[in-house]
Formats: sequence, C-alpha cells, structure tokens
Amino acid sequence: MQKNYQTSPKFVHNLWTTNEDGEHYLRFTGGLYEVEQGDAQDFYKIRGYCTGHNTIADIAKKTNVPVQRIEEMVTSLSDIGMLRNKKKPHNEDILEKTIQACEMWAEQVEETHLFNKFLYGDTHRNVLTGFFIETWHYIKAFPDIINVAIKNTDNPELQSVLMTYKLQETGHESFILETLIKLGMKQEEVENAIPLVSTLNLINMMKALFITHPSTVFLIAKVIESHDFDEAEVKNAIQDINSHYDLQPGTLEPFFKHSQIDYELGHSRLLDDHLHLVTLANMEETSFILNALHDIKHAIDLQCLEIEEYYSKEGNYIPRQRVDYFGI
Ligand SMILES: [Fe+2]
Repeated sequence: MQKNYQTSPKFVHNLWTTNEDGEHYLRFTGGLYEVEQGDAQDFYKIRGYCTGHNTIADIAKKTNVPVQRIEEMVTSLSDIGMLRNKKKPHNEDILEKTIQACEMWAEQVEETHLFNKFLYGDTHRNVLTGFFIETWHYIKAFPDIINVAIKNTDNPELQSVLMTYKLQETGHESFILETLIKLGMKQEEVENAIPLVSTLNLINMMKALFITHPSTVFLIAKVIESHDFDEAEVKNAIQDINSHYDLQPGTLEPFFKHSQIDYELGHSRLLDDHLHLVTLANMEETSFILNALHDIKHAIDLQCLEIEEYYSKEGNYIPRQRVDYFGI
C-alpha cells in the first residue's frame, strides 16, 4: 500500500548545515535554501522520527513539538518538493536524477571534509600527517579498485575508458609520498604502513559496487574527483596550512600538484563524457546504486572521523602498523 507521507512524514535525502556566521542551510536535490534558525532547530527535533513509520501524532508525543507546528513544517517542506513521493513523473530521467544526487554528495564531501580543518589549524598536526598517509593508501589502491570494474564488464568501450582512467591514476601515490617525506616520514615507514580500517572499508565498498555495477566508476568519480582547481585558492590554502602547522615551504605542493593533474585529466568529467556507458536498467537497480553511493559518501565521512580520532590520540602508532606472526 502506498504510504501517506503527508501524515507519516518522510522526506527525500536532505542535509542541514550551519556556516561560520551561524546561518542555516538546507540542501536537497530540489535546491539550496537558507532557513531561519528557529525553523532549523525545530526541524532537527523531529527529523530523526520522519521515517514514514511515525504519524505526526507519534512524532509530537516523542518530541514534545506540537502537532500543529509539525504539520506546518511538513506542509512547507512539501511545498518545496522535499516530501517523499513514490510516483515517478513521466518525463523524469532516471540518470539525470542520479547525477543530481552525485553532484549533491560531491558538494557535501567537499564541505564537510576533514581537509577544511587544516585550513583553520583546527586539528592536531599528526592528523595532517595521518590524512596524507591514508590518502597515500587510498590512491595507491585506486588502480586496483578500477580494475575490479574492468574485470567485471564485457563492454569493450567501458573497458577501454576504465583502462585509461586506471593507467592515469597508476603511480599517483608518489605525489603524496613526496608530501609525507617533507612532513618527516620515511618512504619505508609509509610503504610498510597498514591503512586504517575506515580506509580499507572505503576501498572494499567501492570494489563491492564495481563487481556488480562496473559503470558506476563514473558516478563515484563525480562524487570524489575535484571539479575545480583554482590556483589562487590553492596558494592561499598552502599559506594558511603552512602557517598553522609550521610546515617547511614546498610540503603541500606535491599534494596539490596531484589534484591539478587529475583535474586537468578531466576525471571529474568522466561521467559527463561517458553518459551513454552508464546503464540504469530500472528503478530498483537505480535505488540499489543510489544507496551504495550514499553509503560510500558516509564511508568517506567515517574515514575523516577515524583519521582525526586515531591520529590525535597519544600513543597510537604513526603510521598504523601491521600485526604479523611475530607481533603476537
Ligand atoms: Fe590521481
């Protein structure tokens, strides 16, 4: 039976953020909205119960927000198209909607990423080192991740595009190694390190998706590859991070050089350039892929959290060490 989300509210994917000036924003595929503080705060109170399993009366009871106030919020969010609606409009393009979701998640990854903390010196110096160590692991693993997709498709065009992407990414961890060496790490210690569990998880989640849906490499690229490279912005970032963490000049340049190279290779445009290779058979398959992409977005968030937690805790090995037979 079709659920009535007006009476048991459930919304489409929505993210609420607050900027440095205390302004609240709501972002969903329908757009970006500035929200009054009081409205945002009231919505936070009810948001967790808007799963489609609670009636407005249930939510009122669980949160102490009056029924009338909840109805008011549901109506205004419904007016801007945020209420979940299981009827697909005839002219709606499944792929177009999937791309919108990727763009939204790309934006969110950028906004909430740990890297932003380095710009303000908001976290421990070892976290900076840890971030580059985990990035090194991830970039080193990336050609292998793409290879899973190559091995699981028999479309020669897809194989060929993915092979080019794989070759372009091969060896890119050397840029990160250069940064790590400037940060005082030895090549040998980096190469013998073991990734954090969240980094391994991210790698494995991507591989798992690419086994069954090889063309989603392009969707992932849309979420993770940087879609602009502004030299002036990078110069400022380097200056700020150098001064917060007292880095020697030239430490961050190799890291940003890598971003520039990937940007110039057009990795963030892989999806736009190869739309015809992304086949979304039906709504069910698309939903499976969207859920997997959303999980991977959260795996990135989780990796940021673990990097900060692990590398700021005194006594944890820097970098993480492998446990072998003689270590037991
Ligand atoms: Fe790269």
